[in-house]
Amino acid sequence: MFLVRLVYASSKAKEFDLDDVSQIIDSARENNKKCSVTGLLCFNRKYFLQCLEGSRSQVNRIYHRILNDERHDRIVLLDYTEIIEREFNDWWMGYMPESSLTAPLNMKYSGTPEFNPYEMLGESAHQMMLELRDTLPVL
Ligand SMILES: Cc1cc2nc3c(=O)[nH]c(=O)nc-3n(C[C@H](O)[C@H](O)[C@H](O)COP(=O)(O)O)c2cc1C
Repeated sequence: MFLVRLVYASSKAKEFDLDDVSQIIDSARENNKKCSVTGLLCFNRKYFLQCLEGSRSQVNRIYHRILNDERHDRIVLLDYTEIIEREFNDWWMGYMPESSLTAPLNMKYSGTPEFNPYEMLGESAHQMMLELRDTLPVL
C-alpha cells in the first residue's frame, strides 16, 4: 500500500456558516479514522489549507469527496507526493484556527503577513504545516 501526501487550498463558500467548521472536523475525524487517513486542516475564516496523508487510494477517494463539497470553492491542488512515512500520524485531522496562523509564520512561508495559501508554494505550505504540527497536542 503506497503512502501519499496531498495539500490543497480552498475558499469558504459564501453561504458557509463559520460554525460549520466544527461539523467538518468532526465528520473528517470520524471518516478518516475508518480509512486511516491523517492530516491537518488550517482555517482563517476565509481560506482553508489542508494536508491529507494515507494510502493513495484512500487519499484520492477523500479528496474527490472534498472537491464536490459545496461548503468551499476555488479548490487548488498545491502538492501531491508519494511519501515513505507519515508526518501527521497522531491526528485523524488536526485543526489549526486563525489564532495559530500568525503574521510571523505567514511572513516566513509566504510573501505577506496574512494567511493566504494561494500565495504559497506547495512545499512552503507543507513546511508551515509541519511547524504548526509541533504546537498541536496529540489527540
Ligand atoms: C475544507 C474541508 C475539509 C474536509 N476534510 C475532510 C476530511 O479530511 N475527511 C473527510 O472524510 N471529509 C472531509 N470533508 C467533508 C467531505 O467533503 C464530505 O462532506 C464528507 O466526507 C462526507 O462524509 P459524510 O457523508 O460522512 O458526512 C471536508 C470538507 C471541507 C469543506
